Amino acid sequence: MYKESTNAVVKHLINRLRDVRTASNEFRLTIEEISRMIVAEALADFPTITTNINTWQGPLDVEMLEVQKIVLVPILRAGEPMLTGILQTLPYARSGFLAMKRDEQTSLSKLFYENIPDNLEDKTVLLLDPMVATGGSLIDGIDYLKDIGAKKIISLNILGSPYGIQKVQEAHPDVDIYIAQIDERLDENNYIRPGLGDAGDRAFNTK
Ligand code: PRP
Ligand code: URA
Repeated sequence: MYKESTNAVVKHLINRLRDVRTASNEFRLTIEEISRMIVAEALADFPTITTNINTWQGPLDVEMLEVQKIVLVPILRAGEPMLTGILQTLPYARSGFLAMKRDEQTSLSKLFYENIPDNLEDKTVLLLDPMVATGGSLIDGIDYLKDIGAKKIISLNILGSPYGIQKVQEAHPDVDIYIAQIDERLDENNYIRPGLGDAGDRAFNTK
């Protein structure tokens, strides 16, 4: 299943990302903001646990998300602002890391570093990558997480191509995808059009 956001505020923020006048600081903050909106959609029906808290009128049983069942995994580097944004909503969620780089000639991704919490079997892993172009990085990231025991993975993304989303769904039909927007197409260099350029470079002012 994939769900593209229909929220007009999300669309507005995406178009801020597309604008080349949006410099790296605002670009990262905007990714953070969109990520918080997407995670709210993805976790709308997530299990809650009854927790006793002290309120201004004394103890109260309330329903809280079972945050200890959530592991956030950004695909670095462009996934980093997504993690920062979601940690503002879920500050006690555990985080793991996958550092991957797409070879710009072959468009194949390579894993350079990983550090993921143990015991993924009973967790929900939220895999964070803003861009789904060919889908290769996301497919490889999901393969990796499944190999080390993840049973439930949800993908949170900002922009995708129809081709990339289809490829991820074919490879991993059990992974639900929550994405802010699916653009028109992939271009001949495997960039998303109209897209926003290279998300990592835009976020970190690399070029
Ligand atoms: C970008 C992006 C995705 C990947 C998408 O990362 O953040 O991870 O490309 O392309 P794909 O769907 O064709 O695999 P990149 O590898 O450029 O690394 P970066 O995050 O360091 O910029
Ligand atoms: N990676 C990006 O950052 N942008 C694209 O359009 C494709 C891959």
